[in-house]
This record gives sequence, structure tokens and C-alpha cells, in this order.
Amino acid sequence: SQKVTFYEAVGGEETFRRLVHRFYQGVAGDPVLRPLYPEEDLGPAEERFRLFLMQYWGGPGTYSEQRGHPRLRMRHAPFEIGERERDAWLRHMRDAVDELDLHPQAAEMLWDYLSRAAYSLVNSEA
Ligand code: HEM
Repeated sequence: SQKVTFYEAVGGEETFRRLVHRFYQGVAGDPVLRPLYPEEDLGPAEERFRLFLMQYWGGPGTYSEQRGHPRLRMRHAPFEIGERERDAWLRHMRDAVDELDLHPQAAEMLWDYLSRAAYSLVNSEA
């Protein structure tokens, strides 16, 4: 029997491209989040995040080929992430997930993971 990954079930790379692109459009216009991003061009950050999510959900392992182990807590340590940043991040992500129009069960799985991950990356009480 063949196992269909979540990555494939929701439409593969194209779906993750749309998700992350829509999310970064939100970040680009957000006065709380935009200043956290070190690069003027958000394109490379968008690509890293897309490759990470594709790999996480069973797609190609390009993220780790390029970046190594994800170590998300460590990689977010340089940025002050409090409740305000987390909630802004989740607001744009909610819009991005909603616009995918996935099967409700798939949308819920994706959202569950993303919201837990966002809570786990808070590193500041400010
Ligand atoms: C990178 C902010 C949550 C995954 C980054 C960067 C910033 C940032 C400023 C650097 C951008 C760059 O790559 O140059 C935040 C904030 C969050 C958050 C404010 C709110 C809680 C998350 C979550 C995930 C995630 C929940 C995963 C589900 C990543 C990945 C990278 C990244 C994969 C690139 C790591 C690398 O290879 O360098 N984030 N992030 N982030 N973030 Fe987040």
C-alpha cells in the first residue's frame, strides 16, 4: 500500500507556496512584525519558511539540505517574540490558512501545528 503524505494530500508545493506567500504579504504590512525581519527583501525568508513547512509535512527534504537541522527555538532566539508578536504572526497565518480553502480536517491539522509551534517560540515576556 502507498502512503499519501499530508504534503501530497493538500496539493503539494503549490499549496505551500500560496500559504507562505499570503502569510508574508501580511508580514510585509505589519508594523509589529516587519521590523523583526533582518533583510530588506522578504523573498529569501519566505523561501526558507516554505521549504521548512514542505519538509515538515512529508515533502522534499530541501530545507535540511540547505539549512541543516531546523532548531527553531535557537533560530528564533535573536528575535524578541512576545505575546504581541505571536498573536500578530498567528493572525496573518490564520488568514493565509483560510484562503487555501482546504478540507476542514486538513485545515485544522495545519492550524493546530502552527498555533502550537507559535506558542512554543515565545521567548520574551515583553
Ligand atoms: C525565521 C519570526 C514563528 C519557522 C524567522 C525569522 C523571523 C521569524 C524574524 C528570520 C527570517 C529569516 O529567515 O531571515 C517569527 C515570529 C514568530 C515565528 C515573530 C511568532 C511566533 C514561527 C513558527 C515557525 C517558524 C511557528 C514554524 C512552524 C521559521 C523558519 C525560519 C524562521 C523555518 C527560517 C529558519 C532558518 O532556516 O534560518 N522567524 N517566527 N517561525 N521561522 Fe519564524
